[in-house]
Amino acid sequence: MHGEDDAGMVEATEMTGKAEKSCPLHRPEPPRPASRPRDVSFLQWVRYFRQDILSAQPERLFRAKMAEFRTPFFHSFLCNDPDLVDLVLRGRPGDFPKSMRLFEGLAPLLGHSIFITNGEEWQRQRRIVDPAFESGRVREIYPAMWDAAVAAVARFAPVADDQPFDVEPYTSHLALDVIFRTLFSIPAENETASAIFTAFREHQRSRPLVNTGSLLPLPRWVPRLHGRKTRTTAAHIRSLIRQLVDEHAGLIAAGKAPDDLATRLMTTPDPETGTVFSAEDMVDQIGIFVLAGHETSASALAWALWLMGQHPDWQDKAAAEACKVIDPGKIYFSTVSRLKIARAIFNETMRLYPPVPMLLREAAKEEIFRKRRVPKGSQVVISQWHLHRHEDHWDNPHGFDPGRWNTDEGRESARRAFFPFSAGLRVCPGSAFAMTEGVLTLAMILRHYRVETVPERLPVPVAQLTIRGRDGLWLRLTQRDT
Ligand code: HEM
Repeated sequence: MHGEDDAGMVEATEMTGKAEKSCPLHRPEPPRPASRPRDVSFLQWVRYFRQDILSAQPERLFRAKMAEFRTPFFHSFLCNDPDLVDLVLRGRPGDFPKSMRLFEGLAPLLGHSIFITNGEEWQRQRRIVDPAFESGRVREIYPAMWDAAVAAVARFAPVADDQPFDVEPYTSHLALDVIFRTLFSIPAENETASAIFTAFREHQRSRPLVNTGSLLPLPRWVPRLHGRKTRTTAAHIRSLIRQLVDEHAGLIAAGKAPDDLATRLMTTPDPETGTVFSAEDMVDQIGIFVLAGHETSASALAWALWLMGQHPDWQDKAAAEACKVIDPGKIYFSTVSRLKIARAIFNETMRLYPPVPMLLREAAKEEIFRKRRVPKGSQVVISQWHLHRHEDHWDNPHGFDPGRWNTDEGRESARRAFFPFSAGLRVCPGSAFAMTEGVLTLAMILRHYRVETVPERLPVPVAQLTIRGRDGLWLRLTQRDT
């Protein structure tokens, strides 16, 4: 299928030929933004893109195996074929380095952090970061996550009055609390931690951290300038993080440092070179842990709670499981593996609302994808937003059905077409951390509260740094009788 417009944007989509499937469950589908019309001019497309990366895509990408977009300035391939995704992420990741266009706004803040480096520099960082996040470490920091979940349950009490409220600021606070407690053994209410959070917000206002507009056809030779305000807020955040890093270095030197993630990161040598992160390296890395670790988890938990409001049957099952499995007197890591319903709900939430909706790579050399020539330098887009709802791989693709995670068919679909944490060498190092956090906090909240959606305030998902509700995610909360 081909479409071409006057302005010279060419779009070719390879279809699978499958018929549309109907929703077998007869339940309202969770909200998703309207896709753009099929044929639009180049300028209209740019306008859609600037609005939101999700609604800039045509509906047929939920059925296509690949789509090619050619504009006067860039050439991009959206890969929806699991074999291609595998090739790019696992097979030959070195030939498809991370494209930095999407993250240009991050440079003043994150310096040379692991999220935005490639090649040897990135490999060294990964060799130090991976051991700090392996699953054994998650067990050790679990009590800090538990404390954050208990604190979050208490913070919800004043809004458990059946009045509509936006849950996103609460899940953001919770995710940030988890990060600061596990990294630096301090709660989000700590003076420096909350100053960092406020400064992050200000920075985001001065320049959105992930700038979907930067994907637009701006020639590469145009310099990307960062405004004065952006540079000032970035420098302020970095100085606050430096303060925490220096305090921690003092504790390590005095032999009094807690066994938290920051201590691990600051003392683990690279097994190949024997070097450790310098204080300046740590500022780069902490910036991304705070950012990647809190925005993503906050988004997933907010959507999970919203979906619970829309599906009271699943909510009741999850609450019953939480009451049975969680014993407040016993802070056991093994509890999380017994929260099977909460895990299925959390997975199903990330299928429908993947916190990171798309990955961007670049072809380092010419390639052939599905018999098409992919010129060197082309953008390679891997879209969780589409693959997680792809009609070839999922029954009832836009419907909410945590039950699928307990079927062989559902597990096979997940193996082929579910990767909220990416895959391969650049897979999210925080995935075990995030799954533990997500499942535990969801269960803890549902154990105490009943949630309901607010019909007059149905959310519209938009991709900002992560997938959020355009005007928030509104719920009503009441205490649950336990
Ligand atoms: C539900 C929660 C989370 C989701 C869905 C998620 C998802 C992802 C994805 C998709 C990537 C790859 C991005 C790309 O290649 O362009 C990524 C990278 C990363 N994530 Fe996560 N993440 C989550 C939580 C966390 C947490 C809790 C941390 C740390 C505390 C973390 C730290 C990182 C880092 C450092 C990277 C960069 C890795 C690299 O480029 O080598 N993430 N994450």
